[in-house]
Amino acid sequence: MTNQCEYIVDDKNLDINLGEKVKADFPIFKNNDAIYFDNSSTTQKPQCVIDSINSYYTKYCANIGRGSYSWANKAEAEVEKVRQKIASFIGANIDEIFFTSGATDASNLIAYGYGLKNIDTDDEIMYCSDDHKSTYQPWENLVKILADYGKKVIVKNILIDTEGDYKEDDLIDKISPKTKVIILTHIHNTYGLEMDIKKIVPRIRVKNPLAKIVLDCSQSVGHIPINLKKLDVDFAFFSGHKMFADTGIGVCYIKKSTQSEMQKFKVGGGNNLFEVGTQNISGILSLGSAVDYINSVGIDKIESYIRYITRYLYSKLKVISQIKFSKGIDKCSCPLGFGIISFSISGIQSCDVGDVLNDYNIFVRTGDFCRITKDEDFIRVSLHIYNTIFDIDKFVKAIKYIVSEK
Ligand SMILES: Cc1ncc(COP(=O)(O)O)c(C=O)c1O
Repeated sequence: MTNQCEYIVDDKNLDINLGEKVKADFPIFKNNDAIYFDNSSTTQKPQCVIDSINSYYTKYCANIGRGSYSWANKAEAEVEKVRQKIASFIGANIDEIFFTSGATDASNLIAYGYGLKNIDTDDEIMYCSDDHKSTYQPWENLVKILADYGKKVIVKNILIDTEGDYKEDDLIDKISPKTKVIILTHIHNTYGLEMDIKKIVPRIRVKNPLAKIVLDCSQSVGHIPINLKKLDVDFAFFSGHKMFADTGIGVCYIKKSTQSEMQKFKVGGGNNLFEVGTQNISGILSLGSAVDYINSVGIDKIESYIRYITRYLYSKLKVISQIKFSKGIDKCSCPLGFGIISFSISGIQSCDVGDVLNDYNIFVRTGDFCRITKDEDFIRVSLHIYNTIFDIDKFVKAIKYIVSEK
């Protein structure tokens, strides 16, 4: 599809000065001029998130689910408030939210918690080996473990088309009555596309109503409004640190009606289905604070602003003839391109580009981004709300310089 888009769009939620306004909320930017473009990897933290961690450790540090004294009660109450906040934020019920150490942990939890009990010889699972390793490798590993115990499971690979979205008809054709689980990603971590989940899920439900659907929301929660009930998936997961919270905290959504089908495979202290042992309490609190922060800015405004700066960046890069874009914004219809632009520069290794940009205090990721790819070597710019047009102009100037010096 030819890309006709311009970066200015008619959007009532768009505040083109949002980046300048929110940057001051992030203390890391106060004393330096660094340009941080690696937000798909992790985001910077606003002061309120840092304060929430500090407040727990300086005012009521205690374990949860055990003690009955005031600090323990306060910590427990605060954690449960966060669970409610998360549930409301992603369109789920409070008893469908489980805290994990991150997206990868949650993805493993689903694979073993559901797969060990429900997947047998001749059953089929479907995943995309072009997605992030954390999305599908727990399932790949589960298949190996089941094989060791004599169960032969069939894996069908989901393909990505030339634009960067799933090959929808092919995906649907591959579903059979034996399909047990289908693992999908919401926004791709390299191509930056919002996959057409709203369209794919109802088609899956028609073809095989019993197949479970897992959705990796690592790059979508905190970037665009999410309603898991409406998306009608059985499982979903994401990491807190990619949405302004601390590292080591993530969320696993498990639809209430599916929970009774799960195998409890981790046991120990704690009485919740999958939260065993002492939890990352300060991390959970930081996640609650991150949700408050996002709500105070407005998720619709965040979405519009990220789309705006993505388009702006694309419009500046596409005129540089030496740039070769990955699948994604350059190849797809415009509204789908979101937050992430990956490209290479002919004749220069991406890691060398990254090194030169680092000298300019501009931080990007280079390489293959936790995916198994034979021939992809990209520079990835991933944007968030504190990135500004000024940052992008500086980056494009540096890229033009690198290209001219080649
Ligand atoms: C799409 C996707 N899934 C999963 C992950 C893994 O997240 P974490 O390392 O926080 O577990 C990432 C991280 O980049 C990702 O982009």
